[in-house]
Amino acid sequence: MSQYNLDKPNSIQWFPGHMNKARNDIKEIMPDMDVVIEVIDARIPFSSENPMVAALRRNKEGVQKPVIKILNKADLADPILTTAWIDHLESQDGVKAVAFDDNKVAQMGQLKQLIKNLMPNKVGTGRQIKVLIMGIPNVGKSTLINSLAGRSIARTGDEPAVTKSQQLIKIDDDIMLYDTPGMLWPKIENPNSGFRLAATGGIKDTAFDFDDVASYTAEYLIKAYPQLLKARYKIDELPQNDREFFEVAGRNRGFLKKGGIVDTYRMAEMLVNELRSGIIGRITLETPTMREDEAKFVDELRAAAEAKKEAKLEEKRLRRLRARKNRK
Ligand code: G4P
Repeated sequence: MSQYNLDKPNSIQWFPGHMNKARNDIKEIMPDMDVVIEVIDARIPFSSENPMVAALRRNKEGVQKPVIKILNKADLADPILTTAWIDHLESQDGVKAVAFDDNKVAQMGQLKQLIKNLMPNKVGTGRQIKVLIMGIPNVGKSTLINSLAGRSIARTGDEPAVTKSQQLIKIDDDIMLYDTPGMLWPKIENPNSGFRLAATGGIKDTAFDFDDVASYTAEYLIKAYPQLLKARYKIDELPQNDREFFEVAGRNRGFLKKGGIVDTYRMAEMLVNELRSGIIGRITLETPTMREDEAKFVDELRAAAEAKKEAKLEEKRLRRLRARKNRK
């Protein structure tokens, strides 16, 4: 499977019903918010970005609400690409971007100051800055909130049985945080994004075909991080396709079944797990250039789907016309 294989668009879908409620709640409270914090995964800043944010940030007058994009888990991401992503994101209107790693406590002063700089008129007035915080499941939002609040906060309900979908957390005299459940979106239009979300653990393992995700991951790493793969799996000549890679790496690891056959599934599992935990090295699965290319591609997909729908409607209309004519 190639990185741009589009034979299986939308092959990963994950949108439990409770996320609908979260989405509607966010839509409802967004107009009252001063600042939005979107926690994204530094390894997939494009794929972990909620497409709804751009639309909801704009008020009736077309003014964009300020948003802080936190590229979280930066300790796992490629530092050169994290810098490139920050520049890319900050080139957008009203967007500030910062990278946070697993040493959050040290970074919280910076975040508070950033929020206050965006709303200086409210600071010290007793009117708190209202900050909505959102992000995909497992992106590290709770860890961030606990560090920001300086205490352990109960998780906002992201399970179907928990009805409460928002909670207010006082950060200090100037900042009130509105937490929302970890959320994905109903349709992941870009198939590449689906694979990357799955590879990094943003979509639960039960929601996708593991083989496909592992293949996608291997193909990308072979191309983008060959040295890291060679070093980690002790391979001199790195194969150029995923199947061969699983064979060679699996053999090196001693993952053998009866008859000396390599257990490639076990190797595939190891690759994805080691990517998630950062053992292979600091890896980012997408670049700003890929974002632009893929956004164009998604536009084309959307246009094609729209054209297909139109053609169907037209066909239906003609059929109805013909039937009416025949009746006369
Ligand atoms: P969520 O609320 O968005 O669902 O995420 P949560 O804070 O529960 O964090 C999800 C996982 O990501 C946790 O690991 C957490 O420790 C880890 N995490 C959060 N921020 C960072 C970061 O900046 N860098 C790295 N490397 N990891 C981060 P876990 O294994 O699920 O749990 P545990 O390790 O806390 O036991």
